[in-house]
Amino acid sequence: MLSPTSGPSPLAPDWLSLPDDPNALRAQEWAHDVVRHPAGELAIDGLSVQQLAEEFGSPLFVLSEADFRRRAREFRNAFDEAFAELGGGVDVYYAGKSFLCTEVARWVMDEGLRLDTCSGGELLVAQRAGVPGAKLGLHGNNKSDAEIRRALDLGVGRIVADSLPEIQRIESIAAASGRIAKVMLRLTPGVHAHTHEFIATAHEDQKFGLSLAGSDGPSPAEQAVLAATAAEHIELLGIHCHIGSQIFESEGFAVAAQRLLGFSAKMKSRYGVELGELDLGGGYGIAYTEADNPRPTAEIAREMAAVVAEECTRLALPAPRISIEPGRAIVGPSTFTLYRVGTVKTVVVDGAAGPAERRYLSVDGGMSDNPRPVLYDADYSAVLANRASSAAPVLSRVVGKHCESGDIVVRDAYLPGDVRAGDLLAVPATGAYCWVLASNYNYLPRPAVVAVRDGAARVIVRAETEEDLLSRDPGA
Ligand code: LLP
Repeated sequence: MLSPTSGPSPLAPDWLSLPDDPNALRAQEWAHDVVRHPAGELAIDGLSVQQLAEEFGSPLFVLSEADFRRRAREFRNAFDEAFAELGGGVDVYYAGKSFLCTEVARWVMDEGLRLDTCSGGELLVAQRAGVPGAKLGLHGNNKSDAEIRRALDLGVGRIVADSLPEIQRIESIAAASGRIAKVMLRLTPGVHAHTHEFIATAHEDQKFGLSLAGSDGPSPAEQAVLAATAAEHIELLGIHCHIGSQIFESEGFAVAAQRLLGFSAKMKSRYGVELGELDLGGGYGIAYTEADNPRPTAEIAREMAAVVAEECTRLALPAPRISIEPGRAIVGPSTFTLYRVGTVKTVVVDGAAGPAERRYLSVDGGMSDNPRPVLYDADYSAVLANRASSAAPVLSRVVGKHCESGDIVVRDAYLPGDVRAGDLLAVPATGAYCWVLASNYNYLPRPAVVAVRDGAARVIVRAETEEDLLSRDPGA
C-alpha cells in the first residue's frame, strides 16, 4: 500500500520535521524584512514576490540591502566590542568570493568593513566600486604575476602569501615596481574543521597555505617568516589562517588561534620577529534548514576574544591586531531565490518501509544558479511564495530544468499538497556561493540579482540575455 501523499513521509530525512504550518517562515533562514502578508503572499520590505517576478523575471536572486548591512554591522560591532579590552584593534574583511558586485562593495565600505578578494577579477570590481586600495586584501593559492602587480598598483593593504615561491615572486614584482608589498602569511594550523571535505581548508593534505608542521628543521611556515623578513620589498604584517566554511563549532577556531599565537611566540623568541597581525579567516555557519543552529555573532566574537586574550597572557605576547573574513554569514541569509514551478510529478519510490511517494516540483532554474546541492550535498528549504495554502504538507523535492538527475535545488521539504505549475517558490539563504558559482550549463542565462531597499527594488546585476549567450561564440 502507498504511504499517504500528505503527512509524515517515510522518505523524509531524520532532521526534517512535518511542519504544523508549511506557510510559516523560520526566521533564521530569511532576511529580517521578508514576511508573509496576511493575504498569503511573501513580501520583502513591502514588495510582493509576484511583483518582483513579473518585473524582473525568474529565477531571480532577491537581496535585502538592509539585511546585508545589518549583518555586516553586526560583525563589525560584535568583534570591535569583544576585542576592545585587548587593545590591538579589529578589521572585518567581507569575503567577496561569497558574492560581489560594485554595489555590494560600496555597502561594505559604508559599513566600515574592508574587502577580501581572491582574484584579479574581484580586484577589478573593487576598483570599479572605488574601494581604496588600503582597504583591500588579496588571497589565492596560485596568484598570477599580473594579479600581484594589479594588487600592488592598487596599493592593497595586504597580500596573503600562500607559499614560499610566491613570497619570492611578490618580492621581485614589488622590487621591479619600486614598491613595498604588505604581506600576511597563510598558515595551515592542522585543524580539521567539521564541515564538508571540499570546504575544510586547514588540515595538512590540501592545497592551501604554509604548514606549521616540519619533520626536519624549520617548518614551511617558519621558512616563510624568514624569507619574508629578509625580503627588502616586503613588509611582513602577520599571519593568517582560514579553517574552512559553514562551521558551527567554536573549537576549531579556538585551536587555530592557539596554534598561530604559539607560532608567533616562537618567532619572537627565536628570531625577534614580531607578528603584529592575526587573521582568523571566515567560515561562520548559517541556517539553511531547521537542522542548522548558528550561534549569535556576539557570542562567537566573545569566545574568540577570550581565547586570544588567554593565549597572549600565557605566552607574554602583546595583543595582535585581529582580522576576520566572514562572507557567507553576511550575505547568505540576506538573499532568497525566486523560482517558477513548471512540471509537477509524483513518483513511487522503494523506501525502507515499502513503496512511498515522492513529489518532484521542477522549477525554471537549478544547478546553473545553485550548484551547492550537487557540489557539497548542501540542503536548502523552500516555501510556496505567491500564496499561502491550506493544503496538507507533502514531502517534495525541488529540482531544476537541467539534463541531469542530480540537478536538485532542495532535496527534501514539506510543501503544500496543492503546489501547481505557475506558482512561485522561494528558497532562502542563497546569497553566498550561489550566484558567484552560477554557470550557463545547458545554455541557460544567469539570473539577475535585485536589491530591495526602502520598498524599492533595483537591479544590481542584470540577468543575462540570449544575446549574451551567443556573444562569445564568433559564429559562422
Ligand atoms: N577567507 C578565506 C581565505 C576563504 O577561503 C574563505 C572562503 C572565506 C574567508 C570566507 O568564508 P565564509 O565566511 O564565506 O565561509 N563554495 C563553498 C565555500 C567555499 C569557501 C571558500 N573560501 C560553499 O558554497 O560552501
